[in-house]
Amino acid sequence: MSAFPKDFLWGAATAAYQVEGAHDADGKGPSIWDTFSHLPGTTYQGTNGDVAVDHYHRFREDVALMAEMGMQSYRFSISWPRLLPQGRGTVNEAGVKFYSDLIDALLEHNIEPMITLYHWDLPQALQDEGGWEARSTAEAFEEYARLCYQRYGDRVKLWSTFNETVCFIGFGYITGGHPPGVKNPARALQACHHVFVAHAKAVAAFRTSGINGKIGFVNVLQTHTPLSQSAEDLAAYQLAEGIFTHWLYDPVLKGEYPAQLLAQAQAVWGVPQFAAGDEQLLRDNICDFIGLNYYKRETIAANHHESHLTMNTSGEKGKGHQQGNEFGFKDLFKFVRNPTGVYTDWDWEIYPQGLTEGIMNIKARYGDIPMYITENGLGAKDPIINGEVVDDDRIDYLRQHIGAIEDAIKQGADVRGYYPWSFIDLLSWLNGFQKQYGFVYVDHNKGLARQRKKSFFWYQKLIGSNGAER
Ligand code: BG6
Repeated sequence: MSAFPKDFLWGAATAAYQVEGAHDADGKGPSIWDTFSHLPGTTYQGTNGDVAVDHYHRFREDVALMAEMGMQSYRFSISWPRLLPQGRGTVNEAGVKFYSDLIDALLEHNIEPMITLYHWDLPQALQDEGGWEARSTAEAFEEYARLCYQRYGDRVKLWSTFNETVCFIGFGYITGGHPPGVKNPARALQACHHVFVAHAKAVAAFRTSGINGKIGFVNVLQTHTPLSQSAEDLAAYQLAEGIFTHWLYDPVLKGEYPAQLLAQAQAVWGVPQFAAGDEQLLRDNICDFIGLNYYKRETIAANHHESHLTMNTSGEKGKGHQQGNEFGFKDLFKFVRNPTGVYTDWDWEIYPQGLTEGIMNIKARYGDIPMYITENGLGAKDPIINGEVVDDDRIDYLRQHIGAIEDAIKQGADVRGYYPWSFIDLLSWLNGFQKQYGFVYVDHNKGLARQRKKSFFWYQKLIGSNGAER
């Protein structure tokens, strides 16, 4: 017997841009990722989502594999420009039908859909009008959310508005590694505020939609530890906690920004600027649940060097934490290699206890909020032995993290589901196809043929025993 409740949902996750392909099929409009990934030098070896793993045309085969693995829920995202090619206004009925058919196929197999409304693929048309820096994008998002509720709300109970603000705002507006490729913290903070406004508006619309379901927000759960107990490392650690956790969780779980950081940001940059009614809007529209994406812990140290904002996107171990060149912000903090840490080839620390700690920290700060682990997984170059994908490292990683979730449940956390990243090997935004996460391998040399990995059969057993057999 495991400690997982009987109705715990065992699932897996993907995102539209990373699996669908069909980037201009059947009336879909371009997204900012379609544009960005076609610019030279933006992604690993120029990879893009034009075809991805062609889930758009093969979703029935993929859903059959999900069912065979025993998945009870599937977290996927909707491509906004597939439904609304201009971001608002005219509806592309062929796009609406694609997700409608996908939802029906899932339900036929008793797989509960969990929809993410925004997993980074903003319609290019809205970017051309200012993207998240323009408040009108928040209004367009509400229109898009209402469309999704109308068309899918009769069948879908679990919804989240946004995936990982820290990534699409942080990389989009601070490091410049994601579209729109801006490097300006003040612009980042205002864009981020509009995301919170968009979220709150979509939650408000959900609550009057009559849908018998729940709506949440998905954030990166980044556990931090200070490199040392020195006063300056501790201060750097507190700052990282404030930015990566409190700034990004408080507005959706408490309905307000952390007061001290807000005052500091407004004093230094004059942002975020609030429109009349924003404070009330945030307060009135707190999430029903929080989705947590956990991959790694970061070890934090004070940083006196120039800011360095690039990361390991090649999978050559050690590229990520070269001394003196670590990812970090001058005079604030940097991410350093933990001397006792175990790292992946992309220099992500494997630290399962961090998941227990992170869940318990969320519970301590926000009370009894229901949680779903909406992503967790190992990015690796999987070995193929005699034609079989033997992803033992992934099995180990997942086994340990499932244990960490069970520990949190035993300590009283209300965790309701687990969605490993990812159901199938897919396109990593900046790391191409070589960084694999899936239970299902896709052979790019054999017309994107699907193949079950060793982890597929392992997860199948685990689900069958509600987490006991692992
Ligand atoms: C999360 C995203 O940040 O991490 C996913 O929600 C992403 O879309 C995943 O693929 C893994 O990141 P990466 O960079 O290894 O693909």
